[in-house]
Amino acid sequence: MKKTLNDLDFNNKKVLVRCDFNVPLKDGIITDDNRIVQVLPTIKYLIEHNAKIVLCSHLGKVKTEEDKKNLSLKVVATKLSELLNQKVIFIDVTKGSKLEMAINNLEAGQVLLFENTRFELGETKNDAELAKYWASLVDLYVNDAFGTAHRAHASTEGVAHYVNDSCVGLLIEKELDIIGNALENPKRPLVAIIGGAKVSEKIGVIDNLLNIADKIIIGGGMAYTFLKAMGYEIGASLLEEDKIELAKSYLAKANDKLVLPIDSICAKEFSNDSFKEAYDNDNMPSDMMGLDIGPKTIDKYQSILKDAKTVIWNGPMGVFEMSNFATGTNAICECLANLDAITIIGGGDSAAAAKQLGYSDKFTHISTGGGASLEFMEGKKLPGIEAIANK
Ligand code: 3PG
Repeated sequence: MKKTLNDLDFNNKKVLVRCDFNVPLKDGIITDDNRIVQVLPTIKYLIEHNAKIVLCSHLGKVKTEEDKKNLSLKVVATKLSELLNQKVIFIDVTKGSKLEMAINNLEAGQVLLFENTRFELGETKNDAELAKYWASLVDLYVNDAFGTAHRAHASTEGVAHYVNDSCVGLLIEKELDIIGNALENPKRPLVAIIGGAKVSEKIGVIDNLLNIADKIIIGGGMAYTFLKAMGYEIGASLLEEDKIELAKSYLAKANDKLVLPIDSICAKEFSNDSFKEAYDNDNMPSDMMGLDIGPKTIDKYQSILKDAKTVIWNGPMGVFEMSNFATGTNAICECLANLDAITIIGGGDSAAAAKQLGYSDKFTHISTGGGASLEFMEGKKLPGIEAIANK
């Protein structure tokens, strides 16, 4: 068991809190502040316990000096000040005397955020010197960046080894509790819905869930590699040729656990305006591609879901960014929103769909992790959590 906030004494201590403030931005404006909102309980706890709070996070992928111009965390500091109703001191560097002085001048209950950790080259390399330096600025370390817990970086993993003590924050605790329970001790039937474009991206999660779930419903582009493996002609649909054998092995192992679409909305072109029509699996025209699950599949999936007691959803049922191919994803989302069951969305596109439809608060839990929740559902250890001190 990892230490949690209750295990540490924060009174008057300088505390580094790794958050995942990797929020979506459009023209410099935050379009979804969920990741900031979700970490507020930890920050408020630390304020109430008289800590001197030093927040850090990455934002985006920083490859060139040019990238730095658009990836400053200043915009997050402004948003956070608003949400906390308290000034958040923003320090526009990641190292050096300006940062050190600002931290040393902090009073108990004050909050500081320093610049994007990925502005340091050593961050993603998990550079030990950088990790030691950040650790040297504080007394304690709290990791609450669930969305980045699958990365072994200097601020997510390395730093934990050089502080006096460390723990996970309330968001990580919540994510581990809800997703962990659904995997280890689910109310059954446990139904997993796995969608998205590629089988190759979901191999690990299907592998693990085949041992745990009662049913795995498949949707999205990845369904066509399975349908091909079952012997259907899939026209111009997305196919991962090199994954057909793997799909066959899953089908053989799964018995009736793995549930595939029985019909699809097919289009002539990959375009929202393309001519479209629903076809059963054995009728798909050779010049058309499946871009969404069809009406019979929606009925079938809904009837499986209505008896579920736990549902884990990761990945859309079709090309939901195009409104004409969003029906399947929307129908599944609506069905889950009205279910009397534990419903968990594993981040990413499915979370975006739920938000778009206004159903966000109808789910038991929407994970703040995309890659992280996927790796967790694969049964992998997350390095950002592993590095935290044990109770
Ligand atoms: C995410 O958005 O999934 C996390 O913040 C991790 O970001 P990364 O994929 O750039 O490491």
